[in-house]
Amino acid sequence: MLEKIDRLLKLISELTVSDIKELEIFRIRYMSKKGIISELFEEFKQMPASEKKEVGRKLNILKQSVIEKYNSYKNTLQPLSASAQVNDLSRPSFPSGPGARHPISIVRREIIGIFERIGFSVSEGPEIESDENNFTRLNFAPEHPARDMQDTFYISRISAEDSNPADILLRTHTSSVQVRVMQKQKPPIRTISPGRVFRNEAISARAHCIFHQVEGLYIDENVSFADLKQTLLFFAREMYGEKTEIRLRPSYFPFTEPSGEMDISCTICGGKGCNVCKHTGWLEVLGCGMVHPAVLEACDIDSSKFTGYAFGMGIERPAMLKYQINDLRMYYENDIRFLEQFKSAF
Ligand code: PHE
Repeated sequence: MLEKIDRLLKLISELTVSDIKELEIFRIRYMSKKGIISELFEEFKQMPASEKKEVGRKLNILKQSVIEKYNSYKNTLQPLSASAQVNDLSRPSFPSGPGARHPISIVRREIIGIFERIGFSVSEGPEIESDENNFTRLNFAPEHPARDMQDTFYISRISAEDSNPADILLRTHTSSVQVRVMQKQKPPIRTISPGRVFRNEAISARAHCIFHQVEGLYIDENVSFADLKQTLLFFAREMYGEKTEIRLRPSYFPFTEPSGEMDISCTICGGKGCNVCKHTGWLEVLGCGMVHPAVLEACDIDSSKFTGYAFGMGIERPAMLKYQINDLRMYYENDIRFLEQFKSAF
């Protein structure tokens, strides 16, 4: 036994290993459960007690030298082979696929593109707004239900009961951006404001507390409802196809008078009636109207000289129609399997 150990000690001290594969063979041969060292310890157990002391000592030295050998190669071989890979400049690179735009971005860009072609500029504003810009200047009465905590996320309120123009909140629509533009710019104004908006709603497949809007504003002398209608028809046909029909229904917004809601003929069934349009043949896409004179005055624009129209639409719904997405929550989950599907889109 002692001789055998000596032979092995000599062998190990002379042994060289040239790569990871050889090192693994070495590990299995000597260090694994059924390897040489374990076998020797098994033999050692059967030995007469008188021999155990000397053999035990040598056996431990052998075990130690095997571990040291292994560790010395393990530390040097691995970084070596890794750096060899990096330094091999002739290796072909890993192909990395092109990224994809988020469907909300794709549709937002599409909407912006359509209005830019007919002379609208793009304006942006902050997501954290004052009550004044989000509500007061837009002719919302102090007790209007949309100001209620139900709908609005307040950041700071002067009073818990009454609304105050100095209250700070998360904007509930991007009409607040238009208030800012009207105060800074003289008519003619022709601008759209895309952006994120916030409303305190329960999250479900059809509603979310965060969503996106594009709102438009046109102010000049003699702007009429006919201008609004023609602009919206142009938009609908560019966006949803040449055959699209529009329909305007009377509605109410504090900041427009008269106000309307626009439907388009269903993009799925072409107006015949299907599940998506709930068999009506029409889909609701936006709110619109003539800017209320009180809004113009609140933004220092002479309402006896100028008139204007405004409209606003969400981005999530049109994107759902376009890509047949049936759950709003998909937009925010960042699931790569969802996002990857938009690679070919622009
Ligand atoms: N601001 C309205 C909304 O968020 C949309 C709208 C904009 C309606 C402009 C009419 C005119 O629902």
